[in-house]
Amino acid sequence: MKFDDYKQYLSPVLAKATNLVVESAQGCYVKDVDGNEYLDFVQGIAVNALGHCHPKVVEAACEQTKKLISASFNLVNYPSTLKLAEELAKVTPGELNVTFFSNGGSEANDGAIKLARSYTKRPGIIAFKGSFHGRSLGATSITGSNSKYRNNYEPLLGGVYFAPYPIPYRTTEEECTQRCLSELQEIFDRLIPADNVAMVIIEPVLGEGGYVVPPVNYMKALREICTKHGILLVFDEIQSGYGRTGKMFASEHFGVVPDIMTLGKAIAGGFPMSAIVSTKEIMSAWKPGMHGTTFGGHPVCAAAGLAVLEAFKEEHILENCNAQGAYLKERLLKLQKEHPVMGDVRGLGLMIGVEFVHPEDKSPNADALNKVKDYCFKNGLLTLSCGVHGNGFRFATPLNVKKEELDKGLDIFEEALKAL
Ligand SMILES: Cc1ncc(COP(=O)(O)O)c(C=O)c1O
Repeated sequence: MKFDDYKQYLSPVLAKATNLVVESAQGCYVKDVDGNEYLDFVQGIAVNALGHCHPKVVEAACEQTKKLISASFNLVNYPSTLKLAEELAKVTPGELNVTFFSNGGSEANDGAIKLARSYTKRPGIIAFKGSFHGRSLGATSITGSNSKYRNNYEPLLGGVYFAPYPIPYRTTEEECTQRCLSELQEIFDRLIPADNVAMVIIEPVLGEGGYVVPPVNYMKALREICTKHGILLVFDEIQSGYGRTGKMFASEHFGVVPDIMTLGKAIAGGFPMSAIVSTKEIMSAWKPGMHGTTFGGHPVCAAAGLAVLEAFKEEHILENCNAQGAYLKERLLKLQKEHPVMGDVRGLGLMIGVEFVHPEDKSPNADALNKVKDYCFKNGLLTLSCGVHGNGFRFATPLNVKKEELDKGLDIFEEALKAL
């Protein structure tokens, strides 16, 4: 089966990274229809925290499918979804104990916009340049990583202002924090008064925009500014959440609790599910019927979601993520010494990125990144780029990845660097 024979039936709008037709997958590997195996360091774009087809996820989903597939969470309640809401409340930070389930990340972010506006009765939204929040019109309106995502879609949602994301590369953490905070203040001074702003939405570790970890002081200051002005702080943890950074949620690295958190990707072990989590007080601004969904809270996804949380506990997933993440970073830092094209190695846990640069002036080098990525693909390693200049290499292995799997992938990555 060749992808090209079917291409005509599919909209060209989905930018395909490969033409692979994949039939099966297990753990860290996918297999195409011709039997070729690839080591998968993308995992559905940071979706499969437990790798492909984890036995606990498969069993939970099969069992639930035999009993009930859908009767709509609008109409009835499902045991698996009720239990998942309860289990989520146990792992989410602070008072974030109340959940609204939906189907994908963009949808959760759209919901967060509605919730923040409902609670504050204010129109304004502050998002960040470099951010990615999804493809629905609301999420597109708050996305600032690439103008192609917005091309021809204006006018988008009104009342959205973009602040610079604090990127502590090519500068110091202190300088970056001060400059970005003063530009945020400029928005309040010149464009929209702080008391007109409903929410500030930020990825606590930038995903698509380049796997950037912001300075702790910036995140703490952002929390204080939001509290001072009655603005809701929204963390989009769709990519950074669920153990990816070595803690259950990236917010924990900063000692900051948001008012609203959006979750997606890893939450249901590969099944489509997302969530908006907030406090009882904020959620109570949403009266029945002000938001809704047909599929959200799907019982099969929820059963898989429960299996994911169980595996986190029983299989020490966070411990493995921290241990293997440290090993991955150490090997990359060693490689960086020999290959100055690797301008920056950064990240937390198993959310690790490499920024490719021209060594002379540290300017972005997408060409080198693409050559490395192509070499990896030809040699059986699936990878994905990131970064607003397309020069970031992201490692998004499963969180239960084994050292041998990391070594196998890193050996291919190293050969690719040597071949540059
Ligand atoms: C941080 C973040 N938010 C939102 C989204 C959108 O999620 P979805 O593609 O499930 O709508 C993504 C997807 O990559 C993401 O990384």
